[in-house]
Formats: sequence, C-alpha cells, structure tokens
Amino acid sequence: MRKKIIAGNWKMNKDIHETAALIAGLTERLKAFRDNVEVVICPPFTSLVVAQSLVKGTSIGLGAQNMSQHDDGAFTGEISGQMLCALGCRYVILGHSERRQYFGETDSTVNAKLKKALASGLTPIVCVGETLEEREKNLTESTISLQIKGVLHELSSADLDRLIIAYEPVWAIGTGRNATPAQANDVHRLIRRLVSQISGWPSAEKVRIQYGGSMNPQNAADLLSQPDVDGGLIGGASLKAEAFMAIVRAASEISA
Ligand code: PGA
Repeated sequence: MRKKIIAGNWKMNKDIHETAALIAGLTERLKAFRDNVEVVICPPFTSLVVAQSLVKGTSIGLGAQNMSQHDDGAFTGEISGQMLCALGCRYVILGHSERRQYFGETDSTVNAKLKKALASGLTPIVCVGETLEEREKNLTESTISLQIKGVLHELSSADLDRLIIAYEPVWAIGTGRNATPAQANDVHRLIRRLVSQISGWPSAEKVRIQYGGSMNPQNAADLLSQPDVDGGLIGGASLKAEAFMAIVRAASEISA
C-alpha cells in the first residue's frame, strides 16, 4: 500500500521568525498522530537552515521549492541539489506551474532538474497540470500526457520508483476551486497509466501521486479517499498549523 504524503508548499511566505512559529505549531500538533502519513514542509530557501534545526527529531521531512539543473558555477541566484542535501533537505518540488508560468520553465528544464535531483539523492515532487483553457477544450489528457512524457524523458524504472508526481490543475491553484474527487482521480489514473507505459505496472502501482490545488480541511478527506490519490501538495492551507494538520489528520484517518 502506498503511504500517503502531505507536503506543504509555502511558496514565497514566512521569514525565519514566522517559520519558527509555524513549525512550533506543527510539531505540537503532530504528537497526536500515528506515524502513518509522510509529512513534508517546503519553506523558502532562506528558512531552510532554521527549519532544519526545528524539525530535527520529528517525523517532518524537509523540502525545497526549486533547484538548479547545474552542479555549481556561475549561475547567479541559483541553488544546487547538493546545497539542499547539505541542509538536510530530502525533497524538492520541481516544475510547479508558477515556475513554468513566471520563470519560463519547460518540460525539458524540469526533466534536467529532475535528473539532477535524483543524482543528488533528493526525492523530487514533480508537478504537472492543465490550464482552465486546456480543460475546457478537452485537452486535459493530451496536455498531461505531453507533460509526463517530457518530464520523465529518459528516466529508468529505478528512477521512477524514487519520485513523487503532483497533479495540480492550474485552474485550481490558489483559486479556492478544487478539482472534484472524481476529476482528480481520473487524471491520477491517467498518470499511472502513462507511467506504466514507460516502465510497467509494478512501477506505476508504486508511484505516489499527490493532488494539489485548493486542498483544505473541508475537502481533503473526499479527495484523499480516492483510490489513486496518494496525498496532497498544499499551498495556502499549509501556512496555518491548524489547517495543515487537519489535512494530515484526514490522511491519517483514511490510512488507519
Ligand atoms: P493551493 O496551492 O493549495 O494554495 O491551491 C497548491 C500549490 O500551488 O502547490
């Protein structure tokens, strides 16, 4: 059975002081749970040092929101996978739609980053998702297929076993309008089928697929109960300890 994974994508929120306060709220509430859900937080780069020391000894895993496709060198403003590992990061979000929309990332740059993340020993959380226009034009399946084939290009089955995929419909991110559980599950099943075409059913059945896009304490249980929904990538609701932990609780109850 695939262990559910709930990850908080804090985006460009929380300075080091706010980071410390939020993690205190999370660790306090986490004590009430059985260890049947993987809990991850992805603060901004500037908060990772503080976060590393505060999550030590807890079951919270640490992740970053992006990384470079290069190892080192003259890449002003960039951060390498090795730098993230040295900070205790175990996960990295790659190809988030905001990175694609505002920073020009493409399936091919995401693929390069993905290979570098795996080589660094990180667990990538790779994001795909269609826009509202694509959904309305009935292009969801072709868009997701192209993205999955592009980001997973030339990866081995062993690589595929080490990554997490996040389905994040662009129209649902930060809009308060989540995909219905059935819409989410349909695309998750499609993604699993695409993974099976690349590396067979054993890999496809193992790969964890998170849903992201306006997941909150009210809709989490319904989304997370879907057979192919293995967790959530949470933006807005990850910025408040109570809301984030309510989603973790929903995942924990479903997994019990
Ligand atoms: P949201 O963001 O939960 O605020 O919609 C999700 C994401 O962008 O990962």
